[in-house]
Amino acid sequence: MTGRFTVTAALPYSNGRLHVGHMAGCYLPADTFVRYLRSRGEEVAFICGSDDYGVPVSLTARKEGRTPREVADFYRAEQKRDFDGLGIEFDIYSGTSATELHTERSQQIFLSLLENGFLEKRSCEQLYDPEAQMFLPDRYVEGICPFCDTGGARGDQCEACGKLLEPRLLIRPLSVITGAEPEMRRTVHWHFKLSEFKDRLREWIESHDEWRPMVRNFSLGLLEQDLPARAITRDLQWGVPVPLPDDPDAEGKVLYVWFDAPIGYVSFTAQWCREQGGEAEDYTRWWKDPDSKIIHFIGEDNVVFHAVVWPAVLMGEGTFQLPDNIPANCFLNIQFPGKEEEKMSTSRGTAIWIKDYLERYQPDPLRYYLTMVAPERQRTAFNFEDLARRNNEELVAALGNFVHRNMTFADRYFDGRAPRRGDLSQQDQEQLDMIAGLPQKVGCLMEDYRFKDALHEVMAAARLSNKYFDHRQPWALRKVDMETCGSVINVCLNTVKTLAVVMAPFLPFAARKAAAMLRAGEDEMRWSAAAEPLPEGRELGEPEILFEKMELPEQQEG
Ligand code: MF3
Ligand code: ZN
Repeated sequence: MTGRFTVTAALPYSNGRLHVGHMAGCYLPADTFVRYLRSRGEEVAFICGSDDYGVPVSLTARKEGRTPREVADFYRAEQKRDFDGLGIEFDIYSGTSATELHTERSQQIFLSLLENGFLEKRSCEQLYDPEAQMFLPDRYVEGICPFCDTGGARGDQCEACGKLLEPRLLIRPLSVITGAEPEMRRTVHWHFKLSEFKDRLREWIESHDEWRPMVRNFSLGLLEQDLPARAITRDLQWGVPVPLPDDPDAEGKVLYVWFDAPIGYVSFTAQWCREQGGEAEDYTRWWKDPDSKIIHFIGEDNVVFHAVVWPAVLMGEGTFQLPDNIPANCFLNIQFPGKEEEKMSTSRGTAIWIKDYLERYQPDPLRYYLTMVAPERQRTAFNFEDLARRNNEELVAALGNFVHRNMTFADRYFDGRAPRRGDLSQQDQEQLDMIAGLPQKVGCLMEDYRFKDALHEVMAAARLSNKYFDHRQPWALRKVDMETCGSVINVCLNTVKTLAVVMAPFLPFAARKAAAMLRAGEDEMRWSAAAEPLPEGRELGEPEILFEKMELPEQQEG
């Protein structure tokens, strides 16, 4: 894997705070992957920002008595702080309502589709709230899902079964604004002829057998069904205006939020190019050049939009590359002490907020835990006690302990320097061989988007390294054979270095500390240099603790 990568993470709606489920879904895996690529020396653009338009933000604005723009600006800034706190480092974090470039790009893609014959203007019936005197698209209506019978389904998509919905398909729909029973009214909308892309989509998805089964099967399943033309405009004020000034039917209409949102990836890239001192047009290098690989990290509820609708839009526009992969994670449920596993929900308050977590704890343990329980293939659950326990037993007792015992040993008995490597025993050689193979092993798993397995490899190596240390007993050797003792510590410090490099994508804060203790510069911390020997005699930094013990929640109360 070498080259240029355009990596995106789903744009969060700027209408609330972020919780651990969001991070596990796509932001953490995306950041981990990007850190790996950068360590490999690849050229990467890591793009994100907020999804500001449409009903989700409008509804929150109504509830909070603010304008949609105020809400979007407020939560965008809050969410950015959460990302920063966890070390999720995008190259740009913009917002769909925060840059004119987004309006331009979205309108231009709309016009290209129109010109290429993939849009159809037609009159249709929509739900209308007679009390609020407005149309009720998308989440303005809730009712029973006609596919899986779940109540409280939103008019755009059923959260329970993931199916795309239309408000008028809901059984017993009600207006979210007034609770009124909506009536039908005629209006005019532009529809995207999705079905024209059916064969190309199927062929394209089938050609990617490396994708996660959930993503492939879900999208191929959708292609088995009818793909009715979908309205991509709405009777709303908050959104990108339909760019047809000469058509009276376009008046008062905006683009559907799920039409403009993925275009945000492109417009933010353009903005980033401009901020870097180039031209906005340079975005084409990241989106239209076949040498760039486009990777969309998303959550399971976004699969239909990223694997079916968005690629069809790109095909219809005609000048973009298609995504190379769409690694989607499933949902992360939550389990509170003594309770059943349940869905994380903002409205019911069943979530752990990033902001609250970061007020008390370090970011790395959360990154660690969320990767270890990542719902890469199926839904899994977050459990705070489990997080604390794994921090204590795995990060503190295995990885942190190995680093710490060696750094303090060298500090105390070798004058704070890396000792010389003399003759090696078979065990020493085996340890060196083990760590020499580690970057390749971990790297292969990363390139397969198997982050959980990759982190398991890192931790298994840390455990083996502790065993090696215990076996070689440098504390006993020190008294009888300083030379051999030095060789063992040399092997161990080299192990610390390799571990620091391979843990860096997952645990960037701890890796930075470890690098500082080894006085290892950026070049030494590259993936390709992970197993290169630390110079003998290297003066080391002050020993520091990588991970703090976490108290279990019940111990805090008692
Ligand atoms: N805001 C959407 C959500 O939270 C995700 C949008 S992703 C993008 O489900 F493709 F639109 F960018
Ligand atoms: Zn459903």
